[in-house]
Amino acid sequence: MLMEKKNAIITGIASYVPDYILNNEELSRMVDTTDEWITTRIGTKERRILKGEGTGSSDLGAPAVKELLRKTNTTPEEIDLMICCTSTPDYRFPSTASIISEKCGIKKAYSFDIQAACSGFLFAMQTAAAYIQGGLAKKIIVVAAEKMSSMTDYTDRSTCPIFGDAASAVLVEPTTENLGVLDADLHTDGAGLTHLLMKAGGSVNVPSHETVDRREHFIYQEGRIVFKYAVSYMSEAASHIMEKNNLTFNDVDWFVPHQANQRIIDAAAHRMGIDSSKVMVNIQKYGNTSSASIPLALSEWEPQLKKGDTIVMAAFGAGFTWGSMYLKWAYDTK
Ligand code: UT7
Repeated sequence: MLMEKKNAIITGIASYVPDYILNNEELSRMVDTTDEWITTRIGTKERRILKGEGTGSSDLGAPAVKELLRKTNTTPEEIDLMICCTSTPDYRFPSTASIISEKCGIKKAYSFDIQAACSGFLFAMQTAAAYIQGGLAKKIIVVAAEKMSSMTDYTDRSTCPIFGDAASAVLVEPTTENLGVLDADLHTDGAGLTHLLMKAGGSVNVPSHETVDRREHFIYQEGRIVFKYAVSYMSEAASHIMEKNNLTFNDVDWFVPHQANQRIIDAAAHRMGIDSSKVMVNIQKYGNTSSASIPLALSEWEPQLKKGDTIVMAAFGAGFTWGSMYLKWAYDTK
């Protein structure tokens, strides 16, 4: 007997951003920078910051997941797997997925984190799709939760304008229709380590007074090098998945790039030949929210998305990790 092919579709999406808005004007009072520099070199006008003692990425992820459950009429008991992608976990251990599950009353699922930096959402979606295709789970939540401000050095003008805090969650379920995750092209090159990392706090450089004094618990980024790799790898991965699936730029309804830098997004879209009207961009409002940026854009555009829309997503991040995903949107928003 032939097994019917199962595809993994997104059946709902919800996001959460904290209230506090850190705009370029306020940043210009913190470090030697200007609204003009940030706007032209990065494209960001403002970003959201999670304030409050004792708050972490789970305080962004949990409200996104609760809203997702509400919107999709799903009870916590129905969820059988929860995957959280984050580079800013609440703790080294246990996983942030465990904490978000607890905060949302999700008790029957098993939960774990995925660490793939800014590419985390694509890596987690591919993992969720494999669970669905293998018949191991029926209702999966993928939540991207990033309190980037927790590892941003607000004395370093070359990184602090870039990042913002956000979370976004999707519900992933099976279908036999030709919708959902149809292909992915994901990569890792560990040689990227030295260009983008947090130097201390892991098992190599354990936290010490010295690591704190050297400000090694913040994002270290060699911007110019990362920029070059981001442009070429993101556009290569996106072009590759289009070629492999016989998609021309006319077939693509939406290109959803990781919101790293407006200039990276423009260069990637240009290389792919995709018109800017089809490119989801919200970097002006939120900055780079790491793995949350792609689903944050998808959820903002959700009211415009139609069943069957062809979506190409592309990301690049620390590791290096990068890749693209070809997805057909599965529902019309009522
Ligand atoms: O999401 C994960 C992957 N990350 C990325 O994709 C980020 C990739 N990199 C970038 O987006 C860009 O490289 C940055 C936004 C980080 C930097 O932009 P850039 O155009 O590459 O600038 P740069 O580092 O080459 O610096 C140009 C100048 C320097 O001055 P000099 O040496 O030319 O006098 C910097 O000191 O701009 C200066 N600069 C600033 N000036 C005003 C750097 N940061 C600032 C600032 N305000 N905030």
